[in-house]
Amino acid sequence: MPKQYSSRGLISNSRYCSVTALIFFVFFLLFGFLLFVGFLNLSGVVSISQVKTSSRSRQEEFLLRCPSPGTPTTTTTAHYPTRQNRATQAWNRSCPSYFRWIHEDLRHWKESGITREMVERGRRKADFRLVIVGGRVYVDKYRPAIQTRDVYTQWGILQLLRLYPGRLPDLELLFDCDDRPRVLAKEFPRPNSGPPPLFRYCSDGASLDLVFPDWSFWGWAETNIRPWKNVLEDIKQGNKRRKWKDREPYAYWRGNPNVAPTRGDLLKCNLSDNYDWNARLYTQDWKEEFKEGPKQSRLEEQCTHNRGMSPLQHYWPIRENTKCSSLKYAVEWGNNHSEEAEAIGEAGSRYVFEEMKMEFVYDYMFHLLTEYAKLLRFKPTVPPGAVEVSPETMACHQNGTYRMFMMESLVRFPSDSVPCNLPPVFDPNELRDFWDGNHKSIKRVEALEDEYWRTHPKPNLGS
Ligand SMILES: *[C@@H]1O[C@H](CO)[C@@H](O)[C@H](O)[C@H]1NC(C)=O
Ligand SMILES: *[C@@H]1O[C@H](CO)[C@@H](O)[C@H](O)[C@H]1NC(C)=O
Ligand SMILES: *[C@@H]1O[C@H](CO)[C@@H](O)[C@H](O)[C@H]1NC(C)=O
Ligand SMILES: *[C@@H]1O[C@H](CO)[C@@H](O)[C@H](O)[C@H]1NC(C)=O
Repeated sequence: MPKQYSSRGLISNSRYCSVTALIFFVFFLLFGFLLFVGFLNLSGVVSISQVKTSSRSRQEEFLLRCPSPGTPTTTTTAHYPTRQNRATQAWNRSCPSYFRWIHEDLRHWKESGITREMVERGRRKADFRLVIVGGRVYVDKYRPAIQTRDVYTQWGILQLLRLYPGRLPDLELLFDCDDRPRVLAKEFPRPNSGPPPLFRYCSDGASLDLVFPDWSFWGWAETNIRPWKNVLEDIKQGNKRRKWKDREPYAYWRGNPNVAPTRGDLLKCNLSDNYDWNARLYTQDWKEEFKEGPKQSRLEEQCTHNRGMSPLQHYWPIRENTKCSSLKYAVEWGNNHSEEAEAIGEAGSRYVFEEMKMEFVYDYMFHLLTEYAKLLRFKPTVPPGAVEVSPETMACHQNGTYRMFMMESLVRFPSDSVPCNLPPVFDPNELRDFWDGNHKSIKRVEALEDEYWRTHPKPNLGS
């Protein structure tokens, strides 16, 4: 097998996600790309005993209470803590600045609030409705989601409740697990046209969908991608193993090219008899992989970047319409400017390791859901068709990888601190500076690229 690693986000366009997307993005474009070698080899079966246990006393730990095989699992949240304990520390620390996008995403309902009619408008687009009443979670499933995205998303919300017992307000929300944003801004010209608040993993400048952390933070069983906490640990180990300058000077990518036209296009940049664009690309067919049983970690890329990251600071932007020459230039630039390239790689990694660690993923969810709930103009109620879900009803009947990932991502203790403080709304100037800054960086790279290709012959594409 060639050295390889998985890439998730690659092409810089206006789509953004909550996710893991970004790390792969960073690594991919930065000429080193072997950061993932260790990650791949390490992924595999890890027993639950390897999960770090904390120094806290045993009594506090609350694990699953699964019934003996053959008997039905009931919702056994009765033994769960209902609030955080007295020793809970008031950290008084600010959340990372990307939390400010929570205000931006919810801005469309700021004046009007969210009425039941608005929520119901999203009904036909949703995979499920999730209701929290009195700290308990109920789900009304409308249709199958892709793979087990819905399952792990609900699992994640249950873990949030375990982490911060008694802190989540009552709420009712609709969730769609598809990648593509569906609530088009142009159909809801402001102000107060009452768009449906619909949660999903991605959004973009033309859409109003509410961005929520994706399922893979709790594991992606179909592709054997472990929960984020474990993935981060693996990447860290992998990073240590090979120094930046010893990495191979290629851009690596592995993914499913059939998800979006922009991907199929990308494969043209692969090494061929005629030309080397410094890219090594591998296709990935999930269905085939899954038949054989999950063996290695792979990440599909579904979204492209995270709003907290800036081009040239955290990653290198690639042009949408001339990917191959753009990639070639990026890799060559990186090889010529190894210090700068390494600095970008490091800033990107730092962002991922520090600002996107699991604690902050939970805090993001906490604030998004809390701010969302504040806007509700109706009393959340459990609809007739909904069933209560608990970690027990979700995990006890699972086995294999599904069960393993749930155990790895199970929150075993309530947090001993309160969530970080939500930073304030962007003022319009800050937001403008942010977009201007990003735009300027991208233009700078484009100018460099254009200059380079004026003096270097460009081979025919598609050959
Ligand atoms: C938290 O910190 C901010 C500034 O860092 C300060 O203004 C505020 O008073 C602090 N709040 C508490 C409760 O200590
Ligand atoms: C890309 O090129 C490499 C090296 O020649 C090859 O192994 C790989 O299969 C190619 N990828 C695709 C998608 O054709
Ligand atoms: C990299 O350096 C080589 C040798 O100095 C030069 O020919 C090439 O144009 C440079 N490429 C980039 C992208 O800076
Ligand atoms: C594991 O789960 C699968 C699918 O739910 C089921 O078909 C299989 O029998 C289970 N295996 C065991 C050992 O329980």
